[in-house]
Amino acid sequence: MSSPQHVLTAEHLRVGFRRRRRDPLFWALDDVSLAVPRGKTHGLVGESGSGKSTLAKAALGLLPVNEGRIRIADVEVTGTRSPDRRRLARHMQAVFQDATGSLNPSHTVGRSLAEPLLAQGRHDRSEVADAVRTGLERVGLDASAASRLPRHFSGGQRQRICIARALMTEPELLVCDEAVSALDLSVRAQVLNLLMDLQDESGLSYLFISHDMNVVERMCHDVTVLYRGQVMETGPTSAVTKTPAHPYTRALLLAAPVADPTRQVARRQLAVSQATSAAPAVIDQAAGCPYAVRCPFARAECATSRPTLRPVGSGVSVACHRYPEWRTEAAPINKEQS
Ligand SMILES: Nc1ncnc2c1ncn2[C@@H]1O[C@H](COP(=O)(O)OP(=O)(O)OP(=O)(O)O)[C@@H](O)[C@H]1O
Ligand code: SF4
Ligand SMILES: [Mg+2]
Repeated sequence: MSSPQHVLTAEHLRVGFRRRRRDPLFWALDDVSLAVPRGKTHGLVGESGSGKSTLAKAALGLLPVNEGRIRIADVEVTGTRSPDRRRLARHMQAVFQDATGSLNPSHTVGRSLAEPLLAQGRHDRSEVADAVRTGLERVGLDASAASRLPRHFSGGQRQRICIARALMTEPELLVCDEAVSALDLSVRAQVLNLLMDLQDESGLSYLFISHDMNVVERMCHDVTVLYRGQVMETGPTSAVTKTPAHPYTRALLLAAPVADPTRQVARRQLAVSQATSAAPAVIDQAAGCPYAVRCPFARAECATSRPTLRPVGSGVSVACHRYPEWRTEAAPINKEQS
């Protein structure tokens, strides 16, 4: 999968944690592979605890990887004891959900934006001041913001400041970990537009992490659906969201917020009623499909053997024993939405 066309390549990643010292490892990521092409957005979607941030942290070199490899541009993140952080920082930066916590409240915005440049050894004061000004304007803020403290800005503006700071070193890849999740809908739309404009202007790539399928649909060229650290489905976002190949992807689509509250209730009820209708009684989760206890389409084989990811056309791969049969048992998603 490694190629110069890809700014991030993750191959067969396994990252394990122990709940307590004597517990066996549990896999927060289990055989996860994905690649982010240059200038494109790859979405990582899944509910809380599915391993999204673990993948982001592993890519940033912040977590040891048990198996597999990650490469960012020409930097090997795994395999060495500590990846070359300065080289890594030139290729990749991150924006997180909590803009307030990400910015030092006692530093002016200008100082926060200057820090990544100073860390790279750029000390010419007027050059740094110019870069800060340009950085702020690039994200739609006035250059005068540089002299103010973070508390003088709204949540959306603070997230713009975080994006500006992340872009100061002109990385090729931005990891956005729930970067818009804390924002109101209208502000969220503005920040998503900003990210897309930045991509059009400078060919930036994104690893875009979200639990919201609506946001993923809007932003991402490709998407990987994670459940309990395993890839359930991956492929072009248009194909995955139009005709989901995995029951979990379908459940995420049904759970995505819709504007009409009546439709929202109907969709959630459908998701819940199907999720409780047909799950087999006994599941060996280590051996079987990780989604089997919740899957309305599960059969005996799902409880005993783990499905492997297999290509099913249109660039989509799915890990489900019962694809495509399960789809004949499910109401088409378009009908459910209307
Ligand atoms: N440092 C750690 N030590 C032990 N367990 C951890 C650690 N970091 C994450 N985990 C566990 O790994 C799993 C995946 O966590 P992760 O934070 O990657 O999920 P996530 O998909 O980002 O969830 P969320 O949407 O809530 O941010 C969870 O079960 C979590 O409790
Ligand atoms: S393998 Fe079985 S349990 Fe898993 S998603 Fe497919 S139908 Fe459901
Ligand atoms: Mg997370």
